[in-house]
Amino acid sequence: MTLTFETRLQDAAGRIGRLAVSTADSVIQTPTLLPVVNPNIQTIDANDLSSAGAEMVITNAYIIYTTPSLREQALEEGLRSVVGFDGPIMTDSGSFQLATYGDIDVDTTEIIEFQSAIGTDIATPVDLPTAPDASVAQTEEDLQHTDEAIARAMSMETGEMAITGPVQGSTHPTLRRRAGAAARKHACDLYAIGAVVPLLNSYRYAEMVDVIVAAKEGLGPAVPVHLFGAGHPMMFALAVAAGCDLFDSAAYALYARDGRYLTVAGTAHLAEMDTLPCECPVCLEHTSASLQMASPEERERQLALHNLYVSFAELRRVRAAIAAGDLLELVEQRARGHPALLDGYRRLLAHVEYLERHDRASKGGFFGVSQEAASRPEVHRHQRRVTAVPMGSEVLITEGDCSASGGYDTCWRLMPPFGPVPMALQDSYPTNATLPQDATEAERRMAMDGVRRLVAAHPSSRFTVAHHGWPPSTLAAISSDVVMIDLTD
Ligand code: GUN
Ligand code: ZN
Repeated sequence: MTLTFETRLQDAAGRIGRLAVSTADSVIQTPTLLPVVNPNIQTIDANDLSSAGAEMVITNAYIIYTTPSLREQALEEGLRSVVGFDGPIMTDSGSFQLATYGDIDVDTTEIIEFQSAIGTDIATPVDLPTAPDASVAQTEEDLQHTDEAIARAMSMETGEMAITGPVQGSTHPTLRRRAGAAARKHACDLYAIGAVVPLLNSYRYAEMVDVIVAAKEGLGPAVPVHLFGAGHPMMFALAVAAGCDLFDSAAYALYARDGRYLTVAGTAHLAEMDTLPCECPVCLEHTSASLQMASPEERERQLALHNLYVSFAELRRVRAAIAAGDLLELVEQRARGHPALLDGYRRLLAHVEYLERHDRASKGGFFGVSQEAASRPEVHRHQRRVTAVPMGSEVLITEGDCSASGGYDTCWRLMPPFGPVPMALQDSYPTNATLPQDATEAERRMAMDGVRRLVAAHPSSRFTVAHHGWPPSTLAAISSDVVMIDLTD
């Protein structure tokens, strides 16, 4: 094994990991971004990539292979000399060109041999990216091709070089899951979810989440997972929370060429900016006006650098959030930046069983700052777990005070969105949550879901629920055997 992956800390389905790349004698921290280095157009040099935070880069073996001067240099002096980067280098195979132009001049055997000859650390076979919304029949046919390409790459004598297993499957979760499981059977070093670029370009973040979750279910939790072609900092927190460890993108350079300035809330146009709202070295040393007046090359270089700085700053923030156990709070903040990201976050919460399987049981604190927080995995886990807590035959669940609960064997707090909370758990995670004073309708309904689950689990107990003026719409689904008391009456 050339790559070894170790997970250190976990939050939602995101994790902080260490990826050891033995051929480059280095260990990189994940989640991270691999900036795309275009061997023909070097916007910024490799030293600047490192100082912005890049620990590994990716380039395209197909472009090098088909450009005679680069090919010669790569074969004679090695890939590191072409790219000018000292750390580990991953190479793509030309599949993206295949998807874009419909045809390329190499097959997996040829391009894997070439990747091995030039000293790639992590190589990619020629997978077949299937566009979103393709038919099931087409997607299955394409998957067959990708599976054969992986099998071929894994059967070759390529020494220590690591091999990526691409996971395709269009927008069909069942096929993504199957493709993940099929790729895993080949025991690749790394797995990469493909053909998400068209989803990202059209802001289809909810489907991106479905694709990631399905692929991850097929792959299992132990392996490192890369998201091909994803590199906008606005979506890192969401994609990490869904389970991705590595990203790669040319976005920093492509956007810079168009005068576009990346932020964690989206993309701005330098020409329309009065002030640079960022504390990276570029933005501290320049003004919007000075960058607009600079030469096109200099402007592009400085914008690309800024774009990289914000990307790596966001990845550090994501890692810090995982360590602190508040990654979902960060996702929630980012979801306020764009409605499509909010769709993505809601879709992630809808995969509650998947999240619960990965999420760690105890974290620092639960901050309820949105409607969506009511659907977080911690709430579902709490409601499932408390059904197992023993209780008496006369039970009071109240928003009020348990000290006045004479006549009841058991008194629990009624706490939106968690629902019934035993007194003994009030100071424990997650029910020691910091929540707004006024619960919303959605939070009360979620709390009543919890009551319903508890009542169903204890058919021989009699339940009384005391609330402060909750509207009938939040109470409707409670069985008529439960006595309801409105404390405001
Ligand atoms: N780059 C962006 N998307 C893809 C993909 O689906 N496959 C490969 N190999 N590279 C990509
Ligand atoms: Zn900046």
